[in-house]
Amino acid sequence: MPTYELSNQVAIVSGAGQGMGRAIAHRLADEGASVVAADINLESAGRVAAEIEAQGGAALALEVDVTSRTETDRMVNDCTDRFGRLDIMVNNAGVLAVTPILELDDNAWDWQMNVNAKGVLYCSQAAARRMIDQGEGGRIITIASTAGKIPAGKDAPIAGYVASKHAAVGLTKQMALELARYDILVNCVFPGIVESEMLDFMHAEIARRESTPQEEVRERARESVPLGYFQSPQKVANMVAFLCSTDADYSVGSVFDVTGGAFPYY
Ligand SMILES: NC(=O)c1ccc[n+]([C@@H]2O[C@H](COP(=O)([O-])OP(=O)(O)OC[C@H]3O[C@@H](n4cnc5c(N)ncnc54)[C@H](O)[C@@H]3O)[C@@H](O)[C@H]2O)c1
Repeated sequence: MPTYELSNQVAIVSGAGQGMGRAIAHRLADEGASVVAADINLESAGRVAAEIEAQGGAALALEVDVTSRTETDRMVNDCTDRFGRLDIMVNNAGVLAVTPILELDDNAWDWQMNVNAKGVLYCSQAAARRMIDQGEGGRIITIASTAGKIPAGKDAPIAGYVASKHAAVGLTKQMALELARYDILVNCVFPGIVESEMLDFMHAEIARRESTPQEEVRERARESVPLGYFQSPQKVANMVAFLCSTDADYSVGSVFDVTGGAFPYY
C-alpha cells in the first residue's frame, strides 16, 4: 500500500544502480511514480529498472555521467520523451576516496568535487529548467552526508569527500531560495552511516592504512551510532518519499538527518 500519492509524478534518481539510489528508485516507484534510473553504470541501472517493471512499475534506465552537462541535459530530455514530464530530481550519485590530507591529489579532489558537487549543479539545472517550463513546481532533493556539515574526524581521512559534500549542501541551500518562487522545493537529506558498498570500501581502506582488522573499524563506527546499528538504504528512501509528498510542501532549503542519532547538534 503506498503511503504517499505520487502516481502522476515522474522522478529521476541519479546513481540509481545500487545502494541508496536503488532503494530510492524502488520506494518512489512503490509510491506510484514513474522512475528514471540514471547511473554511469548502465548495467546496474538496467537491473533496477527491470526490477521495478517486474513489480508493475514504470521505469527507464539511462547511462548518465552526472559530471557531463551534455549527458545530464540529455537525461532530462530522454525522461520527458518517455514519460512526458519531470517532477522530482534526486541527486544521489556520489563517490568517495580515502586519502589522508597530504595525499589528496588533483585526481581524487577533482573526481569527488565533480561528481558530488558539480553533478548536483548539472542535474538540478537541467531538471529545474524543465520544471519551470511545465509551470507546476517540483522537488529537488540532494542526498548529501553528515560530512556535508561537519568533518569526518581524525580517523576518517576523507577531506576531499567532506569538501565536496559541504559544496553540495551550500549549493542546494542557495538553489532552494532561488527556485522557491517557482514552487520548486529543494531540500537535503543527510544519511549517517549506511550499510553499502561505499561504507565497506571506506572501512576496508581505513583498516588497511591503520593495519587494524576491518571488523574493528566497523565496530568503532557502529558504537558512534546511538541507535546501535547502521541504517539500511531504505531509511533514506523513506525520508525522500516523504519529501516528495504533499505532506512536505512547506519545507524549503532544509536539511533532514537520517542518522540514528549519530553526529547530533550540528
Ligand atoms: N554509504 C554511506 O554511508 C553514505 C553516508 C552518507 C551519504 N552517502 C551518500 O549517499 C549517496 C549514495 O551512496 P551509496 O552508499 O548508495 O553509494 P554507492 O557507491 O553504493 O552508489 C553510488 C552510485 O552512484 C553511481 N555513480 C558514481 N559516479 C557517478 C557518475 N559520475 N554519474 C552517475 N552515477 C554515478 C555509481 O555507479 C553507484 O551506482 C552518495 O551521494 C553518498 O555520498 C553515503
